[in-house]
Amino acid sequence: IKITIIDREGKTHIVDAPTDMNMNLMEVIRSYELAPEGTIGVCGGMAMCASCQCYVQSDHELPEMSYDEDLMLAEAFHVKDNSRLGCQIHIHSELDGLKVELAPES
Ligand code: FES
Repeated sequence: IKITIIDREGKTHIVDAPTDMNMNLMEVIRSYELAPEGTIGVCGGMAMCASCQCYVQSDHELPEMSYDEDLMLAEAFHVKDNSRLGCQIHIHSELDGLKVELAPES
């Protein structure tokens, strides 16, 4: 599937994300090196760091936030109404065309 990702410098990237590799959005962003190493995915995808925070700009239906994600976003900086943790968004076919912007590093 194609995902549009706006990096922290405001540059837009349209990337291919595989649906058969059990990846999450944070891992896709890392695999294309769209954020410097050490500034995204710090907790390894455990919903415990918010370094993978994204603003979701398309109206795709996303999974409900887990208790952990909700709690982490309640404590994180730069949170907006459309904030989600990239590591909690599992890549699957219905997310084709998803558009997200990386939140600033905090
Ligand atoms: Fe830490 Fe997503 S990688 S919250």
